Amino acid sequence: MIVVTGATGTVGSEVVVGLRERGEAVRALVRDGSAGPAAWDGEVERVAADFADPQSLDAALAGADVVYLLVAVHPEMAAHERNVIDAAVRTGRRPQIVLHAAAGVEQRPRGVRFVGAHVDGLDHLRDSGLPWTVLAPNGFYQNFLGMAGSVGSGVLAVPGGAGAVSYVDARDVAAAAVEVLATEGHEGAVYTLTGPAALTHGELAGQLGTVAGREVAYAAVAPEQALAGMLGAGWDPWRAEGMVELYGLYAAGGASAVSPDVEKLTGRPARSFAEFAAEHEAAFRA
Ligand SMILES: NC(=O)c1ccc[n+]([C@@H]2O[C@H](COP(=O)([O-])OP(=O)(O)OC[C@H]3O[C@@H](n4cnc5c(N)ncnc54)[C@H](OP(=O)(O)O)[C@@H]3O)[C@@H](O)[C@H]2O)c1
Repeated sequence: MIVVTGATGTVGSEVVVGLRERGEAVRALVRDGSAGPAAWDGEVERVAADFADPQSLDAALAGADVVYLLVAVHPEMAAHERNVIDAAVRTGRRPQIVLHAAAGVEQRPRGVRFVGAHVDGLDHLRDSGLPWTVLAPNGFYQNFLGMAGSVGSGVLAVPGGAGAVSYVDARDVAAAAVEVLATEGHEGAVYTLTGPAALTHGELAGQLGTVAGREVAYAAVAPEQALAGMLGAGWDPWRAEGMVELYGLYAAGGASAVSPDVEKLTGRPARSFAEFAAEHEAAFRA
């Protein structure tokens, strides 16, 4: 039995589908007890659980052989990872934990809370004595869909400086996760999941412009200006500050390494940003 947490989200929902396509027995955490995405078949066992509720996690993990541990970005995300790991220990079955972390988790960058939370989770996992594997994806191409409005009006405005980033398609992350969850031999491995190239935000804006059918200029906003913009738009301060920290890492070139691990795991090359952008032409033209 493979238990998938974060199962209704961007990556988790595709992981559930991919595992079912391989005939695996899957239990999916659905916070509200709902049916989950329409793409799931009737064989997916749905269980209601909350990362903040250890009792619900005990029920969700009972009988698990493998756990895909993906928590949402949240001020308590490190505690959420610890709660799932502790519940896995309490099963007494020593399930394999596949921790969905973030690129950089091994380098332990200082002052980047989204990565730091996963560093804490990984430390807890190592201390737990459970068998583990880590997936460390870089930023997702899909994040750019949230900026489609601005792109459509000709501007990509982020505090990314001149650093290149090896962004990755979330579908490739899910495909790599399915391979790791469904096959043996991954214990103790840290797989870094990136796209096939590191591109600056200026280059990314250029590729978005090609599909948007107009020039898209990259505006490298200052971190303070980006923070003020997000707070003004009603962002939660913890998340807004975290985004600025992450872009600071990007600007410094700390997310530019390109890894072969997507192809190594899935047997096919990682999707390029140009392919992703072309698939979403309508969104970026709007
Ligand atoms: N976005 C990126 O560029 C990027 C890059 C590298 C790594 N990551 C990492 O990827 C993870 C996010 O992945 P994602 O984008 O696929 O997530 P997502 O789309 O935001 O989905 C989050 C999932 O977690 C569930 N969830 C949220 N709070 C919960 C709670 N208290 N109890 C139980 N379930 C809860 C959500 O359920 P509901 O449907 O009920 O809300 C949903 O299934 C984070 O750990 C992040 O650090 C992200």
